[in-house]
Amino acid sequence: MEKVLVLDFGGQYNQLIARRVREQNVYAEIKPYNKITPEEIKKEGYKGIIFTGGPNSVYEEKSPRCSKEVLHLGIPVLGICYGAQLIAYLEGGEVCKADNISEYGRVRLEVKEDTLFEGVPSFSECWMSHTDYVKVLPEGFEVTATTEHCPCAAMSNGKDIYAVQFHPEVTHTVYGKSVLHNFLFGVCKCKGDWQMADFAKEAIENYKKQLAGKKVLCALSGGVDSSVAAVLLHKAIGDNLTCVFVDHGLLRKDEGDMVEKIFKERFNMKIIRVNAEDLFLAKLKGVTEPEKKRKIIGEEFIRVFEKEAKKIGKVNYLVQGTIYPDVIESGAGDASTIKSHHNVGGLPSVIDFDEIIEPLRMLFKDEVRAVGTELGIPADLVWRQPFPGPGLAIRVIGEITKEKLDILREADAIFRDEIKRAGLEKITNQYFAVLTDSRSVGVMGDARTYGYTVALRAVTTDDFMTADWTKLPYEVLDRASNRITNEVRSIGRVVYDVTSKPPATVEWE
Ligand code: XMP
Repeated sequence: MEKVLVLDFGGQYNQLIARRVREQNVYAEIKPYNKITPEEIKKEGYKGIIFTGGPNSVYEEKSPRCSKEVLHLGIPVLGICYGAQLIAYLEGGEVCKADNISEYGRVRLEVKEDTLFEGVPSFSECWMSHTDYVKVLPEGFEVTATTEHCPCAAMSNGKDIYAVQFHPEVTHTVYGKSVLHNFLFGVCKCKGDWQMADFAKEAIENYKKQLAGKKVLCALSGGVDSSVAAVLLHKAIGDNLTCVFVDHGLLRKDEGDMVEKIFKERFNMKIIRVNAEDLFLAKLKGVTEPEKKRKIIGEEFIRVFEKEAKKIGKVNYLVQGTIYPDVIESGAGDASTIKSHHNVGGLPSVIDFDEIIEPLRMLFKDEVRAVGTELGIPADLVWRQPFPGPGLAIRVIGEITKEKLDILREADAIFRDEIKRAGLEKITNQYFAVLTDSRSVGVMGDARTYGYTVALRAVTTDDFMTADWTKLPYEVLDRASNRITNEVRSIGRVVYDVTSKPPATVEWE
């Protein structure tokens, strides 16, 4: 199988690079720069190497650097941002910090004729994020692109080493896809015959071998991620997989029954439903701080699993449906912590299983859906909107009570119903209600009311790393607002959240 190595120097977009390569039907795997030697790279038979960006400056003592040998293995290399500067540094060029040319955001790019820019117009928009830049090129290299402030926005040795200061992996770089395509196919001569189906096939084969005769427990929530992880594992080890579905009382309206039914009846899987509402609500009593809520729920989840596992007998592995955005936003590697997603950062350090398996850890949501479809999971489940592990706990702002959860469940069900009725389920990628902790005064039947404020949130996104608020038609918002205030007694006001991510996140907590 053809594959490309993404050598990780600590940038925010490393997985995005791997994903962009996979989108072009070439398998990409990421390795930290200090976890693979030039000999190992050679032995693996990579068709190309991509150096990622990173937050450091090449001259800092602790900067991540690989051996210069990596550039001379006879395998084409593409450096991106920090990766580009590192190539210049390793090859004897000069990198400078100059605040007056720091570029951040959309910048006009001018490219020269070069294999990397085949089909890219002379002028186009690219996305930059740098203060350092390549001031003196290494011998044998030529500038192949510039911007107004950056004298070397791209360079190459005309043979097998290419470097770009901008980020071809982000969608704001209009011809970024072409640049990566030219590297993969024009320079590395890849064939592009890898498919997402191969991912599922290979994962099933690997787990068949790795988990032969072992007992495996899966944390099933009924969301897309854990469902795909569970079905994948079920295909590999059949009844050695037991799914535990913890109903923490923080689910949406009627969700618990539905999840149980689907997996028992449609997939014929071993599933145990644990009703743990009282336990979770007791643990969450009086807690208002979002990170604390997440940690408590994450920890209780594991405790409940441990207990179930003990009833089953010896369990060797625990499967979780963690996907890549959960990993990066929980501050794995060098990225900084935004929130502790419950299936990553919230894990207690001491647990009773030998190991945790996360088959989807490297995939983005849409890739998970593609795997789900490959596995034959019905579209209505594969296309379910995501639902966070901590459930409605992070959608009830402030203290959580059963009463507030019930209020939110009703409002949320109405909002989702209106979206469905309007046929907008595929227009918006995630939509839900949030019960805020603010109350406001209103008037109903000549009497003063003092009810909760509910916020409606709908976002449009393809990877959940960034998201736009969805411009829902006014009529839909109007109907939802009317029904919520009429049908849910304690809600006195409905507002619509018009914030994108960044600066906000999708969930409120
Ligand atoms: P944020 O709020 O981080 O959400 O912008 C991005 C996506 O992740 C979901 N989300 C979670 N999923 N465990 C999960 O499995 C969590 O703890 C968690 N927190 C947020 C969120 O619903 C959105 O789809």
